[in-house]
Amino acid sequence: WGAEAHKTIGQIAQNFLKPDIARKVAALFQDKSFGGQLPLASLWADEVKHRRGPFGVWSAPLHFLDTLDDPGRSCSVDMERDCPDAKCVVGAIANYTTQLDCANGYDKFTRDIALRFLAHFFGDITQPLHVCGREKGGNEVIITFDGQRENLHAIWDTQMVEKRLQDFESDFVQYSDFLTKNIQNGEYTSESKDWVSCNNSPNSTTLCPLTWAIDTNAINCPFVWDTVDKNPNIDLGGGYYSDAVPIIDKQIAKGGYRLGVFLNLILSKSC
Ligand code: ADE
Ligand code: ZN
Ligand code: ZN
Repeated sequence: WGAEAHKTIGQIAQNFLKPDIARKVAALFQDKSFGGQLPLASLWADEVKHRRGPFGVWSAPLHFLDTLDDPGRSCSVDMERDCPDAKCVVGAIANYTTQLDCANGYDKFTRDIALRFLAHFFGDITQPLHVCGREKGGNEVIITFDGQRENLHAIWDTQMVEKRLQDFESDFVQYSDFLTKNIQNGEYTSESKDWVSCNNSPNSTTLCPLTWAIDTNAINCPFVWDTVDKNPNIDLGGGYYSDAVPIIDKQIAKGGYRLGVFLNLILSKSC
């Protein structure tokens, strides 16, 4: 996702943090970075991605999972096949969850970085094309969106989200509050339990992100690529965008809610 989606996801999560957990989150960020809050922290992983230095370059593959089925055309996720070395978004969420948990004894600096990565990857794992190996997650497919030529990946990361934000005065806080209400008491309330139900299982650190990756990947075949395959010359800013809005809303809501619920869980321990 682009910056606006990540900030929205961070803000939804922030809305769900218990007060003592919000204080722990703020204290984990060295030098009072990001105003002590998740929306700005969630952007850090993209800022360091293309930089030389300790977190640059090697972390780039952690933002996605390239499915190698056919390749990426039949919509399935298989850890052995697609992420054998854990260098993908599923492995990254599992590893940084372990590093953030104070029971595992990592130092404060490592836990700060782990939290920054988690605040970002809980978002990326809900973007359909971040769990898709076809044409580099759509980066290599150029289509029209509202009269402009763009790659399909950027249309999902940025163009459609920014168009949706115009319904909320281009203010991610208003969009976040709308989605938060739909989770707390509205359209998503009953299904939101399923969005986080994986943590009832043993070994939930890998099981949860894999469950989420499978859930996200399933959007690709019936929706993301279907129109593009049938009509490559279509402008995606019309009916495709309208049909994508409820999907985008729900994927962003899932990322935010999961991040909030999981941080409440992981950071509840007093070690
Ligand atoms: N680079 C290669 N595959 C990608 C994907 N699925 N998402 C983002 N960047 C990628
Ligand atoms: Zn992306
Ligand atoms: Zn990313």
